Amino acid sequence: MDRLEQFLNFAEQSPTAFHAASNFRAALLKAGFTELRETDPWLVDAGGKYFVMRNDSALIAFRVPGTGFSSFRIVAAHGDSPAFKLKEDFEDAGDHYVRLNVEKYGGMLMAPWLDRPLSVAGRLAVREGDGVGVRLVNLDRDAVLIPNQPIHFNREVNDGYKYDPQVDLLPLYGDEGAKGGLMAEIAEAAGVSREEILGHDLFLYNRERASVWGAGDAFFSCARIDDLECAWAGMTALTESTAWDTVSVCAVFDNEEVGSSTRQGADSSFLYDTLTRIGFALGASDGEIRAAVAGSFMISADNAHAVHPNHPEKFDKQNRAYMNKGVVIKHNANQKYTTDAVTSAKFALLCERAGVPVQHFVNRSDLPGGSTLGNIANTHVSMETVDIGLAQLAMHSLYETAGTKDLEYLVRALSEFWK
Ligand code: CO
Repeated sequence: MDRLEQFLNFAEQSPTAFHAASNFRAALLKAGFTELRETDPWLVDAGGKYFVMRNDSALIAFRVPGTGFSSFRIVAAHGDSPAFKLKEDFEDAGDHYVRLNVEKYGGMLMAPWLDRPLSVAGRLAVREGDGVGVRLVNLDRDAVLIPNQPIHFNREVNDGYKYDPQVDLLPLYGDEGAKGGLMAEIAEAAGVSREEILGHDLFLYNRERASVWGAGDAFFSCARIDDLECAWAGMTALTESTAWDTVSVCAVFDNEEVGSSTRQGADSSFLYDTLTRIGFALGASDGEIRAAVAGSFMISADNAHAVHPNHPEKFDKQNRAYMNKGVVIKHNANQKYTTDAVTSAKFALLCERAGVPVQHFVNRSDLPGGSTLGNIANTHVSMETVDIGLAQLAMHSLYETAGTKDLEYLVRALSEFWK
């Protein structure tokens, strides 16, 4: 199976950040990494490989050089994507139908969610003795759909339509008798009784299979390319790396799409806690850890916009990126991206050594553009950082598109980073 096929399998099996973290966990265990828990003391050996999870949805993996403590080489990405989250009481019966009451998570394109089979996946909190246990669940069947209005009732829709998420985006689950049925299905899929479920973090997701398409199979499409593509490339490069002389770290945060300021987001203590605990476990002093952080380097990896074939005018004339043309270095004068002359140069040199082409992206000066997690993580652990990504189309749609050559480019670049 080639890398792209492996990634597409991973993406299809990772409909939520919980599933992505769980699948990374399984891959790391298979590759011989040891799981550490934040609530336990850490024993870390020179030459060892480890990972730690937070909130079942964020994960930091690392390898320690045989020589012991040193500076860090960090790749940071995110495992969440915009989606609709089921509200606490979510089965809404009335007027013949049972619909799901959902709210927006993150800033998505709403229209693509209409008229296609969707399913439900996420995390359950279940009664376990006197306490609370966690189960991941994935209905894994066409369970709900958000129907469009017919053109006859909404004749101006093609001239622009403002979607109201509390009206237009509520999915249909069944006829009037179906109330309670979805929670029963969820309980069955999780192997617990309805009464045992005390809480849930459940999301809608797209059921459409991944596809490789176009002339010469130039493109692929699937859900959640932003940012599973970078997260998967990072974890793959880390597990495949064999020789390393710095502490190699790959962090996949949650909640980037809602601003990162959560316990498991980039705006938390998670990375700082992990780096300092690695240092202390290896016998480094506070001063040695600070010196190591100061001499460290971070690659903030979150996907970039490829020039849109129908709207090239939305892109800067000179600083634009295309799919299949290599890794994109992202720049912003107002430092929404961390990239500066020095970190851009260092990353470009690294890619040159790896035989990987690079492109540079800067937004048009009259368009604000997006933000990411590099500058946020930097406020907690400050080090030289570059913002990069792979060029993709339709960011924050539920079916995104990227170039088939670029995934391999990024794995190669990150492997070189950790050499
Ligand atoms: Co992103």
